[in-house]
Amino acid sequence: MKSTKIYLMSILMLFVLSVIAQNKPLTSDLKMKVYIDGLMKKMTIDEKIGQLNLCGAGDITTGQTASSDIGKKIREGKVGAILNLKSVDKIRDVQKVAVEESRMKIPVMFGMDVIHGYQTTFPIPLALSCSWDMALIENSARIAATEASADGICWTFSPMVDIARDPRWGRIAEGSGEDAYLGSQVAKAMVKGYQGNDLTRNNTIMACVKHFALYGAAEAGRDYNTTDMSRLRMYNEYLPPYKAAFDAGAGSAMSSFNELDGLPATANEWLMTELLRKQWGFKGFVVTDFTAINEMIEHGLGDLQAVSALALKAGTDMDMVGEGYLTTLKKSLKEGKISEAYINQACRRILEAKYKLGLFDDPYRYCDANRAKTEIGTDEHMNEAREDATQTFVLLKNENQLLPLPINGKIALIGPMADNLYNMAGMWSVAVDHHQSVTVLQGLKNAIGNKAEILCSKGANFVDDPKLDLIINNTEIPTIDPVRTPKELLDEAVAIASKSDVIVATLGEAAEMSGECTSRTNIQIPENQRDLLKALLSTGKPVVLLLFTGRPLDLSWESKNVPAILNVWFGGTQAGNAIADVLFGKVNPSGKLTATFPQNIGQVPIYYNHKNTGRPIDSGKGGWFTKFLSNYMDVSNEPLFPFGYGLSYTTFSYSDLKLDKQKLTSGGKINVSVTLTNTGKYDGAEVAQLYIRDMVGSITRPVKELKGFQKVFLKAGESRTLNFTITPLDLAFYNSDLQFKAEPGDFKVFVGTNSSDTKEGNFTLE
Ligand code: NOJ
Repeated sequence: MKSTKIYLMSILMLFVLSVIAQNKPLTSDLKMKVYIDGLMKKMTIDEKIGQLNLCGAGDITTGQTASSDIGKKIREGKVGAILNLKSVDKIRDVQKVAVEESRMKIPVMFGMDVIHGYQTTFPIPLALSCSWDMALIENSARIAATEASADGICWTFSPMVDIARDPRWGRIAEGSGEDAYLGSQVAKAMVKGYQGNDLTRNNTIMACVKHFALYGAAEAGRDYNTTDMSRLRMYNEYLPPYKAAFDAGAGSAMSSFNELDGLPATANEWLMTELLRKQWGFKGFVVTDFTAINEMIEHGLGDLQAVSALALKAGTDMDMVGEGYLTTLKKSLKEGKISEAYINQACRRILEAKYKLGLFDDPYRYCDANRAKTEIGTDEHMNEAREDATQTFVLLKNENQLLPLPINGKIALIGPMADNLYNMAGMWSVAVDHHQSVTVLQGLKNAIGNKAEILCSKGANFVDDPKLDLIINNTEIPTIDPVRTPKELLDEAVAIASKSDVIVATLGEAAEMSGECTSRTNIQIPENQRDLLKALLSTGKPVVLLLFTGRPLDLSWESKNVPAILNVWFGGTQAGNAIADVLFGKVNPSGKLTATFPQNIGQVPIYYNHKNTGRPIDSGKGGWFTKFLSNYMDVSNEPLFPFGYGLSYTTFSYSDLKLDKQKLTSGGKINVSVTLTNTGKYDGAEVAQLYIRDMVGSITRPVKELKGFQKVFLKAGESRTLNFTITPLDLAFYNSDLQFKAEPGDFKVFVGTNSSDTKEGNFTLE
């Protein structure tokens, strides 16, 4: 064993010497290897284990546990990284302890949940995906990286790329919805935005792809719950966005809380080593989610020592907050339960990340107090956030062109979100300064000046149940009105609304009703708010529902009874201004849904790219129910709003769908063209979507799959020919041998405004 090691070392030395002798520069990978070899040679086993430990700073915590004695642990070389510590000054102080007072002087990595912006907060990720604008998404991540790195952070726990098809799961808000193709584009854009082309630059940060893997398929939408799925479904429908993020160069990954195949992801060797590293060639490091190692005791896999060893052997490198590695790995090593090679491997991967970030060259690279003063929350960033937010709103209904509103007369602005500073930014806004947020009231006032009058009233609490109010409120400011009873709130709002020309009802979820641990079994607007909506409608005034939500909701009642619905999700710091831009028509809405809105909770999971079954129902023919076909007795199979859906103040028509050929050869391509015309009165943007269907396969194929999209801006009356290219690669899928191949045969191609409303053509793959 020893002699093999000496032999390998000499080969490496010879190689390095020959490179030097030839006067060739060492490749950066080799340089890194030489540097880290040198470092690790000097490290004790305790110091190596210390690198695998991620401490929670206590500033912001997202679990039941907090770390203690952090300063002492850093001095002893027992901390590799710190989570959610905020501000350059604090980070500099802590880094100083690491590089001046610990024996090995290894810098600490500072990570944070920079999820949708930093101090300048962008719309929540689900909303951002509805922009279908990859440049916008990349830029939002770029700005987030600029601000976070200016405040000392070099590592973000983002992007979250979990495919989610279950709106009961509150974390659907943190991802890009239900589609693997779109999710992959977003994943790539986010990684590029955070990491740029050069991770050593002080304004880029390392991405952490989470939650690896399949977290979005938690059974019954209950957070942290079990997932179980076939390899085929994994490879075809859930894994592509993770792979896209790794292919884009993401430096780290986070293990998910859920089990798959009977093993929690954190201890799942197939996932962490076989798939991630051997099949996909991932070279970065894996961190657990918050105390995920310790939680394997509850999963029923043994005591802390046993589960820590399982995680390490599976290929999980860093332990978030739980200290299972810190407190048990040495014992396991002594008892022969793990080999030192596992510790070395994990330690090396973490040191490599620090090397790639340039921390060994300058541990204070991200601690420039001047940048902190000048690059965070700037006007330029805020303007970007405002523009971006306008692109994420989805117009769900607009009867008789009620929107855009004219700026005149009396506008009643009603609801718990009308003037609510703390709920604008949305979940996971750990670095936001709420006082910079623009409320709807403020945004409307900014737009209106003295041209119209706003009458504002809260009208209802988010919820009337104090217990639920506590759960949804992490600002420690109760949202239940301390003075007025629910009836008094409602009466006041109705009185004000009765005096107005139009009512804008700002209703829906509070910010913390989505995100981590916010599963719901009822996805309607809370009942007390719906009562308010009914009362407002009964005034006979036109009502616009300005919907705040972090997930698809059951809006069956609202879609029948309210003339206009604009879904604004949670739009970030500048939401109020962006809402005014869209309400008054300065910006024409163009957002399209990336997660299906069901008719009711019983249809969940519901997603556009489902399989056909052997007994499909064609709702076009024969109505919505036929005995012995795959349907429900009480509701049709159709969603309320399909994937890709979203209206505009203008109208678009699709015509003249053409394929330049009918047969696609293995090295060839087909051009699909369609004429898009803005047939309405307003200029506006449309997201044209291309789907395919593989008619016959060696395994069953979905009824539709997104394979391309273009967001195009057309002036009123303007027409444009859009061209899409289809190659055999676009038709490939994982077959039952898990080979990624396109199969010859007939295909349908669809182009249109959403996944249900399309023009259709056919071709054959030879
Ligand atoms: C738990 C969450 O699941 C994860 O997304 C987050 O990054 C960590 N906590 C750290 O806060």
